[in-house]
Parts: sequence; C-alpha cells; structure tokens
Amino acid sequence: MDRFTDAAGFETLAIHAGQEPDPATGAVVPPIYQVSTYKQDGIGGLRGGYEYSRSANPTRTALEECLAAIEGGTRGLAFASGLAAEDTLLRTICKPGDHVVIPDDAYGGTYRLFAKVLEQWGVVFDPVPLADIAAVRAAVRPETAAIWVETPTNPLLGIADIAALGQVAHGGGALLVVDNTFASPYLQQPLGLGADVVVHSTTKYLGGHSDVVGGALVVSDTALGERLAFHQNAMGAISGPFDAWLTLRGIKTLGVRMERHCANATAIVEMLVRHPRVAEVRYPGLPGHPGHDVAAKQMRAFGGMVSFRLTGGEEAAVRVCESTRLFTLGESLGGVESLIEHPARMTHASAAGSPLEVPTDLVRLSVGIEDRDDLLHDLERALS
Ligand SMILES: Cc1ncc(COP(=O)(O)O)c(C=O)c1O
Repeated sequence: MDRFTDAAGFETLAIHAGQEPDPATGAVVPPIYQVSTYKQDGIGGLRGGYEYSRSANPTRTALEECLAAIEGGTRGLAFASGLAAEDTLLRTICKPGDHVVIPDDAYGGTYRLFAKVLEQWGVVFDPVPLADIAAVRAAVRPETAAIWVETPTNPLLGIADIAALGQVAHGGGALLVVDNTFASPYLQQPLGLGADVVVHSTTKYLGGHSDVVGGALVVSDTALGERLAFHQNAMGAISGPFDAWLTLRGIKTLGVRMERHCANATAIVEMLVRHPRVAEVRYPGLPGHPGHDVAAKQMRAFGGMVSFRLTGGEEAAVRVCESTRLFTLGESLGGVESLIEHPARMTHASAAGSPLEVPTDLVRLSVGIEDRDDLLHDLERALS
C-alpha cells in the first residue's frame, strides 16, 4: 500500500485499498480468480499463500482488505450473503446458553435467524427498543454475549446511539455488533464509535447495482478477526470470486452514489411530508424524527431509505406499491434503481405475529440515483 497513506480519504480507500495492480500482468483491477485450488511447489510450498479457495482466494482477499479499510477496521471477511455473515458471527461469539439483546425493529430475516435457527441451538434473545438506553441496560444479563444493533433500522428507520450502546455492552462484558447495511460505511463508521463488529448485507449499498448477493464482517480486534476467519473457513459460507469482484466494483463508486441517494431521498421526503394521503414519514433527516440528533451526530448524511404510512391504511399502501412505474416493486434495497415495497407482506412477512411485526400501512422506498424529478413525478402519480 505505498500509493496512499493510512490517512487517505474514504473514496481513495474505496478505489485502491487491497487493489494494487496485478503483479503478473499489470491489470489495474484485480482479476476474477475463478479457481478452487493452487499448485504447490513441494508439499506446503505455496507460491502466493493460497492453497484452497474456501480458505482464501485472491479476489476475495482484495475485497476483504478493502472492506476493512473503508470501515476503519483491521480485518474484513466476505460471505455468501448477509445472513451467512450473521450466522457465522453469532456461532463464533455465542455458545448454547448465551443471550443476545436484539432491536425491536430489525430486518425480518435477522429476527428469523434468532427465532428459528439460533434458539434451537440454545441461544436466547430479547427484542428491546434500542433508543431506550435504560431498557437496554436492564436487559443485559451475565450471559449476554452481544447487543445487536441496526441503525437506521429496517424498515422503520429508527436510530440507535452506537457510542452509548457500546458503553452499555462493554459495561456488561458483551460485544456491540452493528448492522451497518442501511447507512453504508460512507455515511457511518461504527467501529470508530465503539462497536466491536460491523455486519453488512453487501447485497445492498456496497454492491449497489442489484446484481450480487453477499455479506461482510469487519472488526478492529485482531484476535476476534482470527476467530472469525477460522469459523469462516470451518463453516464455509464464503463469497465466491465473481461475487467478490462485483462487490469490489460497486464499492469504488459508493461515495458518489450515496451522495445522490441522499439528495434524492431528501427531495422525496419534502414532497411526502406535505402530501395529504401520507399520515407519517419516517426519515432520520427530519428534525421531528426522535433519533434525528443522534443520527446527525453519528452519520455524515441521512441515507437513501424512506418509509411512510398512508392515511388510507393497508389497502392504500398496497395500491401505491402496485401503482408506481419507475419505482420497481421488489425486495432488497441500495441499488442504483429505485425500489418500492410493502414490508408487512414482503421483506418482513417472517416477523408477523412477533414483537418485530411492522405496520400494515407502511411503504418502504429505496431511493435510487435516477433523475430526481422523474422519481417525484412517479410517486406523486401513484399517490393521486
Ligand atoms: C439490514 C439488513 N441486514 C441483513 C440483511 C440480510 O442480508 P442478505 O439478504 O444479503 O442475506 C438484510 C437483507 O435485506 C438487511 O436489510
């Protein structure tokens, strides 16, 4: 890394960290090493340190080094999906009998992982409103292994104070895990605020083009990084070389994309708050949002995700989701194209009947980077 210093800015790291020109050919972009195994010069004589691509692969290494750099950590690890990263993490830092504090609003699949998979393995959990620091402190027990934070949350865009929760976690001998998917490292860097582990669904803003599924973990502590790397290899839920390459390519433009996502989202929020059919807009950039001050303290800007509730209830919410033309009706988020969805029936259907159930009149937007006026026009037409 002699082309830039440790003090390099975010976009320099996003474009160059882990990505020296290929020593064999000079290729400026790391090649897709679509390979499972590597020739050894005598038993154990590894030319480049690689022996088998579950354990390590050069394209994945480039992504993992880049992830560590842009999150301000020492170790990044890339997985087949966000949930694969979560599962590997939880089965590294928890053992049967342990307890985890989770948010009372979070991605439905994260809740399902706790409720349907980890609970069978003997890990118990409590959903708690993370904005209520006293409630979180009261929920921590001697066997609490981690406090799991999502901020902003999916889909209600709640905000949790990462620095304050870090103190609660560490005071109770637990780790603070932050799912940074909604913010992306361009807008928020949890490790610098006291988190121990950052989790990503790289499927979202990091990939950024709705063409790859992936996940990541980033840590500062080298011993924890070693333990996670051991489990990554032992459990095997790794990112393949092509997926790693697509994610690396996405990361190069993360900063410029996030600027545009945020600007478009702000314009849409301004329209929605004035619209008579809209009962409530959830966006951390609104001064009336309960987490606005904390978000302003820990985020560079407020992101590209917007949720809102309709005065006409569930039927009206479903109708809006099915009426847009430019906003595509679909799950996922964070791509260059705008998406609209109905969380209660789509992304969060698995949380129905649980403490994480979401309102049925809620619509979630992933605001893309298309022309702002076209997006406004499409939504206004769907609301009319
Ligand atoms: C906040 C958040 N975390 C984790 C995940 C899981 O990621 P993946 O779908 O890549 O497994 C998602 C997926 O939507 C998410 O929104």
